[in-house]
Amino acid sequence: MIKVVVSGAAGRMGGTVCEAVEAAEDMELVAKADPALGVELAEGLSGADVAVDFTTPDTALANARACLEAGVHAVIGTTGFDLDALREFAERSEANCFVAPNFAIGAVLLMEAAQSIARQMPECEIVELHHDRKLDAPSGTAKRTAELIRAAGGNVHEPIHSLRLPGLVAHQEVVFGGEGQTLTLRHDSIDRSSFMPGVLLAVRRVGDLPDSCTVGLEKLL
Ligand SMILES: NC(=O)c1ccc[n+]([C@@H]2O[C@H](COP(=O)([O-])OP(=O)(O)OC[C@H]3O[C@@H](n4cnc5c(N)ncnc54)[C@H](O)[C@@H]3O)[C@@H](O)[C@H]2O)c1
Repeated sequence: MIKVVVSGAAGRMGGTVCEAVEAAEDMELVAKADPALGVELAEGLSGADVAVDFTTPDTALANARACLEAGVHAVIGTTGFDLDALREFAERSEANCFVAPNFAIGAVLLMEAAQSIARQMPECEIVELHHDRKLDAPSGTAKRTAELIRAAGGNVHEPIHSLRLPGLVAHQEVVFGGEGQTLTLRHDSIDRSSFMPGVLLAVRRVGDLPDSCTVGLEKLL
């Protein structure tokens, strides 16, 4: 059994992760950490193999450091924090961390398709749409998509467009423009369950990854 502590357990994502971990036959939920529940992450780390973090941009890095220092592998879904600082810290750590700006398989496939299209149609714009309580903009998914498209030779126009509205969950479009034509890719997470297979896969794999810090769900597929 993999012993899991969920950080941000009272939040939208954290609550869904708790349910998914409890339903997984090979995992045990050993702690739900969240200031809103009166439980500090440090309290849950002693009995855990893996910590899953869906918190806030200003707390994710400190949480990840606490996990790695305690020898607990970290799976991080929080977006909008300093990834380079985490990489630097993880290099000196015994435990591993895995970070994905998007755990939904459809969003990862969109990124792959976007890279492929960018080789032939480089000019593009990204529109990301999220619920109105999201703290960071542009989204971690949009920043990662832009990074991958640029690495494939595409020209992502600035700025990335961010829409925040009630009713939305997590959505992204990449619109490519060429001579006399456009091509649009769109992914919609209409429910937070879309992220759970990716989160559980990361929990199962994080301890065996060859690098101390791995970024992107595509690395596990
Ligand atoms: N990677 C992905 O696939 C993915 C998908 C959706 C959302 N996200 C990201 O996940 C994060 C959380 O999103 P959400 O909608 O669940 O937010 P939310 O506001 O519903 O939940 C965040 C929770 O974190 C808790 N928290 C704050 N400080 C904490 C600390 N020090 N220790 C433990 N818990 C703490 C808050 O009390 C809150 O309950 C955001 O950064 C969001 O962008 C990532």
